[in-house]
Amino acid sequence: MNLLVIGSGAREHAILAALKRSPQAGCLFAAPGNAGTAAIATNLPVGASDIPALLAAARQHAVELTVVGPETPLAEGAVDCFREAGLAIFGPTRAAARIESSKAFAKELMQRHGIPTAASRSFDSHEKAVAYVKAQETPMVVKADGLAAGKGVVVARTREEALQALEECMVRRAFGDAGERVVVEECLSGREVSVFAFTDGESISPLVAACDYKRAQDGDQGPNTGGMGGYSPPGFWTPALARQIEEGIIRPTVRALAQAGAPYTGVLYAGLMLTSQGPQVLEFNCRLGDPETQVVLPRLETDLVEVVEAVCKGELHRVALRWSQQACVGVVVASGGYPGEYRTGLHISGLEQVPEGALVFHAGTATSDGSVVTSGGRVLTVVGRGRDLADARQRAYAAAKRITFQGAFYRTDIAAVAV
Ligand code: AMP
Ligand code: GLY
Repeated sequence: MNLLVIGSGAREHAILAALKRSPQAGCLFAAPGNAGTAAIATNLPVGASDIPALLAAARQHAVELTVVGPETPLAEGAVDCFREAGLAIFGPTRAAARIESSKAFAKELMQRHGIPTAASRSFDSHEKAVAYVKAQETPMVVKADGLAAGKGVVVARTREEALQALEECMVRRAFGDAGERVVVEECLSGREVSVFAFTDGESISPLVAACDYKRAQDGDQGPNTGGMGGYSPPGFWTPALARQIEEGIIRPTVRALAQAGAPYTGVLYAGLMLTSQGPQVLEFNCRLGDPETQVVLPRLETDLVEVVEAVCKGELHRVALRWSQQACVGVVVASGGYPGEYRTGLHISGLEQVPEGALVFHAGTATSDGSVVTSGGRVLTVVGRGRDLADARQRAYAAAKRITFQGAFYRTDIAAVAV
């Protein structure tokens, strides 16, 4: 079966690597991909959000099944468009992707169905939002309604900070149309976890959990990033917790979306806070996480092609999906300066000497004169696999140390205090 993965990050490299393990995999394609995907698939020079060009490329290369990595093409209707053209594609429709692309929609759905989440209000009017914020207890959280590349959330310690966030979003329009509407919500505290389930709109797979690190520096210092590492499974992840989240959050959400006329197919990603009152939803995403995918998919024992195909056909109940007990720790190697300004085109060495028990997924890489060079801020995710988190962590760092380029840096505390 010819397969296409849309996207160019380490998540997409990890998806391709998992698809490639399938005996059913034929020719693999990435659009647009990176130097890592080029080693296991054919990169197509098509942007991940150029839906007409993606459709044309899929037809040209006789692609039988497409997997969408990032949220933007999903929110813009890639799935609707491929399906209308009679092509199989994995991911939610534009309507179902609203669970991520509109926080107000997601909150309203959760509130209507009693799915545990922070108390909140949505506003279209800056004036009304200001009045509300002035009457709220601090801290509080201000969120742009739409997609803002992970930058649309401000946890405000003071009213002034919250008012500033409203101003940024609704008056200065820092996130364009994505900030026309805002959600103001109660601040939750606890441990954060990302939970993933495959679903065909009715059946759901056994859940898998991972934790990620968003800040650039050790000890959760420094600016927010696209993610600096992660691990799976978390030490606190138990069958009882999985059951509670499945019954109280994932199943009711899948059911609610079907009732709302937007049945959800693909991977549903719940970003949760484990509070003293139980798990509560911080956000839903309509796709796999990055860097979580890099530590989750290597643990998938079932053939990913079979899973993806079953989801697309509405036959997920036929697949016995299994996650291994093995642990994975992923360390993101980034370019000096990231998430601010950084150089590109730097030669990467050590990629040929990755030790056993480690995997390297490429993100911001390209090929230049036959060698692999940097082309982005987050360059690689180096993953260690082991019998437990400590073993996996040791393998991840042993491998990360061997890969170098000028200015390369990574956090040294990924999974260090993983309990
Ligand atoms: P989101 O994009 O909604 O996941 O928000 C990004 C980050 O902001 C989350 O990973 C949390 O660390 C934090 N966050 C979001 N909502 C809340 C909340 N209600 N209370 C506390 N922290 C939050
Ligand atoms: N790891 C956060 C995300 O993928 O949105």
